[in-house]
Amino acid sequence: LPSLPCEQGWLAASLHLYQGFWLGPRHLNGVLACQRHFRAQDTDILLVTTPKSGTTWLKAILFTLLNRTKYSGSGSQLQHPLLSQNPHDLVPFLELNLYIEQDVPHLASLPPPRLFATHLAYQSLPQSVRDSKCKLVYLCRNPKDTCVSLWHFTNKLRPKDKCENSLQEALDRFCRGVSLFGPYWDHVLGYHKVSSETPEKVLFLKYEDMKEDPRANLKRLAGFLECPFSEDELRDGTVDDILRLCSFDSLSGLEVNKSGKLASGEENKVFFRRGEVGDWVNYLSVDMAERIDRVVEEKLLGSGLRL
Ligand code: A3P
Repeated sequence: LPSLPCEQGWLAASLHLYQGFWLGPRHLNGVLACQRHFRAQDTDILLVTTPKSGTTWLKAILFTLLNRTKYSGSGSQLQHPLLSQNPHDLVPFLELNLYIEQDVPHLASLPPPRLFATHLAYQSLPQSVRDSKCKLVYLCRNPKDTCVSLWHFTNKLRPKDKCENSLQEALDRFCRGVSLFGPYWDHVLGYHKVSSETPEKVLFLKYEDMKEDPRANLKRLAGFLECPFSEDELRDGTVDDILRLCSFDSLSGLEVNKSGKLASGEENKVFFRRGEVGDWVNYLSVDMAERIDRVVEEKLLGSGLRL
């Protein structure tokens, strides 16, 4: 397992290349365990992202969409779990949450549809995910916003004895493909290809499209997951209720997300910063932006994908 020398910054110093992708410190055991032990079921739904592409948002949306009859409507007395739990505690990552202990978790008896998340590249998914009929929802985000968001996030999570990484360092690494679960473009292209070839297997979404037309994208998501909205639901505000509950303002304003912590220890508030499209302009110089654009354009050449 090649790893990077220490002068590259605190996080990069502990990244390891595995199957062509950079894993963070402590990720390898979880990745190996879930590759070995996870058995996908045909009814499973897997949410896939590179870090900082809107995972938290999509977790909230998918959870609310799939449980919409349970927690909404006049007949329901149940308080919605998102009001008291962070989306990451409701939709666990396979490799970061479920398979980190020695014991193999008992997931077989969970009621369908089981909803899990992962940052794994397509070729690193457990074999059964690729072989089964389970569905994957992939969300990607503009690389400049992803890079800036990742820079903020890794600095917030840095151990107290480590100094901050500069944005220039973070950008250099990102452009060399050295980012958590990156190279970013290989991750995105892997899922984009499968989605083009087998659209019933992978739904390929963009953060920017979700922001621009959340209603249309939520309906698309429901159709893909074979739980389309009924005519009544389209009329009675169900779609808008889901979007409102899962919006940045709503989630980031909840007490649990202002002061709570995840079961895994991170503060919930680190997953909410600006939640906007194009915030990179506030951080990247023209040169920096052009550099990412050049690299990404070159890597995506011929794929038909624009980010
Ligand atoms: P910014 O750092 O640009 O604000 P992830 O969930 O994959 O870790 O990504 C985090 C990014 O998504 C952060 O971006 C965060 O603010 C944004 N985000 C979190 N919740 C969101 C929501 N409900 N709607 C839109 N963006 C959200």
